[in-house]
Amino acid sequence: MSERTIPIVDHRYASSVPPVPRQPQPLTPPLDRLHRPLHDLRISVTDRCNFRCTYCMPKEIFDKQYEFLRHADLLSFEEITRAARVFIDLGVRKIRLTGGEPLLRKHLERLVEMLHALRTPQGQSPELTLTTNGSLLARKARQLKDAGLDRVTVSLDALDDTAFRQMNDVDFPVAEVLRGIDAAIAAGLTPVKVNMVVKRGTNDQQILPMAEHFRGSGVVLRFIEYMDVGNTNGWRMDEVLPSQQVIDRIHAVHPLHPLEPHSPGETAQRWAYDDGAGEIGVISSVTRAFCADCNRARLSMEGKLYLCLFATHGYDVRALLRGDAAAGLDPVSDADLRAALAQVWSQRDDRYSLLRGTAAGQALREQRKVEMSYIGG
Ligand code: GTP
Ligand code: 5AD
Ligand code: SF4
Ligand code: SF4
Repeated sequence: MSERTIPIVDHRYASSVPPVPRQPQPLTPPLDRLHRPLHDLRISVTDRCNFRCTYCMPKEIFDKQYEFLRHADLLSFEEITRAARVFIDLGVRKIRLTGGEPLLRKHLERLVEMLHALRTPQGQSPELTLTTNGSLLARKARQLKDAGLDRVTVSLDALDDTAFRQMNDVDFPVAEVLRGIDAAIAAGLTPVKVNMVVKRGTNDQQILPMAEHFRGSGVVLRFIEYMDVGNTNGWRMDEVLPSQQVIDRIHAVHPLHPLEPHSPGETAQRWAYDDGAGEIGVISSVTRAFCADCNRARLSMEGKLYLCLFATHGYDVRALLRGDAAAGLDPVSDADLRAALAQVWSQRDDRYSLLRGTAAGQALREQRKVEMSYIGG
């Protein structure tokens, strides 16, 4: 037993069971209070990760004593698939599997198959993607593609082996992640995207080497402003390198021009190399909030629904799916689940990045925020 007192229910984020509305709900997909539709569902399948990136799962906190969730607390693949089917009814067209590290969840390819078999009202499979640290990708890319995964995004914060080993903090070699990226390309999980979180003074010297490595490879490299997610990463504004400076640094060597967004609500602003060597993106949640069109919902591994990456409160979808004997709740029908989730979405007004600099943002910050490793990026 550990010396420390650890609450029995891990993660301890405030949540409530969404009520099932008594009145019939409209059958059309809901808009939230800021008129935003629901389009992306990001499903976190595990809270575990084999890396300890200092900005996400710092070793001092996510150590041997840290209690990860028990398997019984996780949503089963059947429960995830049922929830996803209802979310598709509510407008979801893109599903992203995240973690922790999603490839640590056993038999994930089975879940991919089950989600791939779902159909939108237009008869199509939802777009199915996965965010991974790439460590197990060389082994799993082919299986995932065969199961119906469309593409992958690999997190990679440095190309220099020493810098990379320091950032993942488990001494994992960069060559193995690069092998994973190659395997994903070979398997057709394309376009492969690479996400680099930029921390000023830590890995900003890697911006140009990363850009040059992936130029002309078909991989879309995206630079992410370091964000104040969760409470454990000791975030400081002076460690944020504004995306404009990333663009300026690359543009000075390899001229760039802006591209139009693919769709509203996209996280990344797109830029293309003037010489035709492909595109890059910048994700600027700190300096240029993109909440106005945010169409993303997040479902945690234990079935809590979050309406914002910076949410302070979740909705216990598992209690609706599974029932909760202790709370005297029976499982609900798909129709009731749909009605409850539609109502939750229609009341959403989250926009943390837009509020970050205001008193309302400050108030949100003082409440406990969900960790990135708990709901995925
Ligand atoms: P693509 O369809 O592949 O372009 O995916 P995406 O950009 O929607 O998803 P991805 O997981 O690659 O997101 C990239 C990064 O952007 C994440 O790791 C987060 O750091 C950040 N991000 C994603 N969604 C949000 C969001 O809703 N709000 C904020 N503030 N940041 C987000
Ligand atoms: N700021 C920005 N991005 C982050 N990620 C994790 N923590 C942060 C943070 N504090 C990114 C990871 C990965 C995705 C899951 O989220 O690098 O690409
Ligand atoms: Fe793991 Fe990704 Fe978090 Fe790094 S950023 S600790 S790889 S979940
Ligand atoms: Fe969406 Fe919240 Fe991110 Fe804004 S801060 S884009 S509302 S997830």
